[in-house]
Amino acid sequence: MNKISIIGAGMTGSTSAHWLAERDLADLVLVDVVEGMPQGKALDMLEAMPIIGSDIEIVGSNDYSATKGSDIIIITAGLARKPGMSRDDLLTANAEIVGKAATETFKYSPDAIYIVLTNPLDTMAYLTMKVNKLPRERVIGQAGVLDSARMCAFLAMETGISVENIHCYVLGGHGDEMVPLTRHSNIAGIPLCDYISADKLEAIVNRTRKGGGEIVDLLKTGSAFYAPAAAVAQMAEAILKDRHLILPCSAYMQGEYGLRDIFFGTPVKLGRKGMEQIIEYPLDADEKVLFDKSVAAVQETHEALKKLVKI
Ligand SMILES: NC(=O)c1ccc[n+]([C@@H]2O[C@H](COP(=O)([O-])OP(=O)(O)OC[C@H]3O[C@@H](n4cnc5c(N)ncnc54)[C@H](O)[C@@H]3O)[C@@H](O)[C@H]2O)c1
Repeated sequence: MNKISIIGAGMTGSTSAHWLAERDLADLVLVDVVEGMPQGKALDMLEAMPIIGSDIEIVGSNDYSATKGSDIIIITAGLARKPGMSRDDLLTANAEIVGKAATETFKYSPDAIYIVLTNPLDTMAYLTMKVNKLPRERVIGQAGVLDSARMCAFLAMETGISVENIHCYVLGGHGDEMVPLTRHSNIAGIPLCDYISADKLEAIVNRTRKGGGEIVDLLKTGSAFYAPAAAVAQMAEAILKDRHLILPCSAYMQGEYGLRDIFFGTPVKLGRKGMEQIIEYPLDADEKVLFDKSVAAVQETHEALKKLVKI
């Protein structure tokens, strides 16, 4: 049986375990600093397995040794946004938490592939790779699957067409400057602009960019977790089943799109080795302007991290 450990058993971590358990993919470990909480959630979920018909093991712990021998480590530990906060506002607190989660898990699972969610996402993925000196294939940030799914959901609501026919691609950093690729997105192969008016499409693009903030404003005490956690499960399955599935994720750039030494959102191919290939989209002049703005925002947070942590 494969093994997946989730660090941070809060809303996103425990909901990731839930979606993963439904997929019957791997034994699961939940780790959190709060005493009793990961143990309680793991036991509750384990007690649901007879109903689902799954024989996976689910354990909770406050000790990293429980993660020993994991195939995948998912990092969701850290503070989430509250109304009025940007993802970047979380940098100082979360850099310490993620740095520790990355180094402690690496001691017990030196061959694991990391999926990072903690915000600011692109920069936390960068930190995870750098502190453990990992090859880039083994660290992937979750953002684009969620952002693209949000755009698909809004388009399905607008057009009344099944989400299965809607294919959206989002590029760039996981922030309000992300670049929804309307030119490359389609409904059953037909360009979006043939289905809906330019005004409506622009409104959907804007709602996608601010999709995380919309949920934060509604919840008031935390941020989205169902959709991000479902994205984690899709990524983990693509890896463990060696699917070579192309999904938008945050990946370390080594010359792709002219970028270097930065984690940035792009479609990538996921398989058993992790991030197998970065897919490069040809960008037109308008897309390039948005792309550059997004790069600048992510670079700024990477620079702020380098001032905080020696990596
Ligand atoms: N990339 C994405 O798409 C995405 C989506 C959702 C959430 N997030 C991010 O994920 C993080 C968690 O969000 P959430 O909604 O689950 O928050 P949450 O508050 O519900 O859960 C966070 C958990 O982390 C735990 N924690 C704190 N320090 C820890 C440590 N040192 N070791 C282990 N656990 C620790 C807390 O006890 C808490 O249970 C936030 O940074 C949030 O912004 C990212």
